[in-house]
Amino acid sequence: MIELPTELEPVRVFQGDSLVALRALPDGCADALITDPPYSSGGMVRADRVNHTTDAKYTLTQHAGKRPNFGGDNMDQRAWQSWCYEWLVEAKRIVKPGGYLVTFTDWRQLPALTDVVQWAGWVWRGVNVWDKTEAAKGPHLGYFGYQSEFAVWATNGPCVTKPSLAEGGEGRMPGCFRQAVSVADKHHQTGKPTPVMRWLVRCCPPGGLIVDPFGGSGTTGVAAAHEGRRCLVIEREGPYVEIARQRVGQVLGRDAGSLFGEVA
Ligand SMILES: C[S@@+](CC[C@H](N)C(=O)[O-])C[C@H]1O[C@@H](n2cnc3c(N)ncnc32)[C@H](O)[C@@H]1O
Repeated sequence: MIELPTELEPVRVFQGDSLVALRALPDGCADALITDPPYSSGGMVRADRVNHTTDAKYTLTQHAGKRPNFGGDNMDQRAWQSWCYEWLVEAKRIVKPGGYLVTFTDWRQLPALTDVVQWAGWVWRGVNVWDKTEAAKGPHLGYFGYQSEFAVWATNGPCVTKPSLAEGGEGRMPGCFRQAVSVADKHHQTGKPTPVMRWLVRCCPPGGLIVDPFGGSGTTGVAAAHEGRRCLVIEREGPYVEIARQRVGQVLGRDAGSLFGEVA
């Protein structure tokens, strides 16, 4: 039994497998599903996929060994797409009609992701761009810079129009966000900056519930807490569950242990 976040306890961090956890949630319980699954990107042959830790794959030498490794990042594209189908179908079941899906990916997996989002029944609406700026990992000379990642967005059926600023709403949501990675705000090998997640969580109505089934260091929960949204963070790896609980506890000004004691 997974307890959903409440007004008093607006962010909960649940330790467990995302598919098992999503299947345990009731139909239509969430306003949005916003997440950053393992990309499983770049492995052309088996050796690429199995012989490197995520630290070796993602971390610059000067920061090596500082953040825990994580699993689920070593599938080939066909397996990754089938697996995405499984969780995207559950995601659609738990999100209310008109609610949002926002899920990150990189340029290699973008076409596979936009296909599988639609196979799972979502209405694909667009691709938001996170511009990591010129500070992103350097490209080879003669290449265009790999300085963007993408947040595919979709809705569960027709899109619900939001109130305008004049009507007391929060105004237009930008489709592109420029934000360099800062070491002080990076708590996961592939963590997203808090300002980027604060931008995205605004697709959920104030006070509404976001589910993040691949929560990592809890950045979606931290952003939700800042923006007055509720959030259920699901993460499988114990060290990241601890980091997420600490971070969310700090934003809410509460003791992580007493707030988020639930373990699958
Ligand atoms: C790309 S990271 C998310 C990072 C996050 N956005 C942040 O800012 O910290 C993906 C996370 O999904 C977790 N994960 C992978 N497979 C999982 C599964 N089947 N169930 C739950 N979590 C899983 C990994 O442990 C990893 O921490």
